[in-house]
Amino acid sequence: MELRSPVINASGTFDAIAARGVYGDALLKEFPFSAFVSKTITLEPRAGNEPQRIWETPAGMINSIGLPNKGFEGFIAEDLPQLGELPVPLIVSVMATGHEDFGRMVSALDEREEVAAFELNVSCPNVHSGLIVGEQPAETVALLEALRPLTQKPLIVKLTPNVADPAAVAVAAEEGGADAVSLINTMKAAAIDPATGKPGIGVGQGGLSGPAVRPIAIAQVRAVAAAAGVPIVGMGGVSSGADAREMLAAGATLVAVGTENFRDPRAGDRITKELFEQSARPT
Ligand SMILES: Cc1cc2nc3c(=O)[nH]c(=O)nc-3n(C[C@H](O)[C@H](O)[C@H](O)COP(=O)(O)O)c2cc1C
Repeated sequence: MELRSPVINASGTFDAIAARGVYGDALLKEFPFSAFVSKTITLEPRAGNEPQRIWETPAGMINSIGLPNKGFEGFIAEDLPQLGELPVPLIVSVMATGHEDFGRMVSALDEREEVAAFELNVSCPNVHSGLIVGEQPAETVALLEALRPLTQKPLIVKLTPNVADPAAVAVAAEEGGADAVSLINTMKAAAIDPATGKPGIGVGQGGLSGPAVRPIAIAQVRAVAAAAGVPIVGMGGVSSGADAREMLAAGATLVAVGTENFRDPRAGDRITKELFEQSARPT
């Protein structure tokens, strides 16, 4: 895939359809990212978790949104035609609890010209083994071996940081035929509301993102770059051109912007400009 810049969005943190509703077609003329990654979709519709779903922390936030989405049929009927109008390649994030369900979505989307690539969200249990796929190299390689024959489009595996050795999972993804890996997803976290003594997140815990996780993301991207040969989409707390540059220096080929989009919806554009300005400056 040829992209005009190394800055894309992190799944679930920028709703391009809602943004077009606000900014109109101006969004298409100056789209803030060089590729668009969709919110993760699942085969069946999901309502998401009960509130509270977001808890602000000193340098980021904890979320437990619970992957609300209209399901695969709804995505195909309502969202895909609109996402296909974006002026950048579309990467669809998919998640399922078994190879068959993953395979149904990948096969069907393989035939759609709107879709440039897939991101496989593997932070989910396999119903057959009960194990979180992305926490286990063997589960990851088995999933890739099931999906690789179904498409020639790039498969990007989204790694979880909640493991002792993310590089081992990245190597497994590569062995199974992944074209790239992306990391990090959110880190398990919780907060207690001091006013009530109850968990700040309705379901008890969630995932931490934002500047607080950036040094961890940098360490994990470096470890994955040293162990695996596939390109890396690096993310975790990137909120400036300098942060993006750090992520690229750690070994990433692309940088994804997540939590910063909630603070500044034009963050993608700004970070891209800052990155190019810094690159042009003599050091
Ligand atoms: C509100 C919210 C929703 C998210 N939804 C998804 C999702 O649907 N799929 C996914 O793979 N990651 C999801 N993520 C994780 C981000 O894509 C990203 O991996 C993580 O937040 C780290 O990057 P950041 O610190 O720049 O936000 C979500 C993160 C947030 C904050």
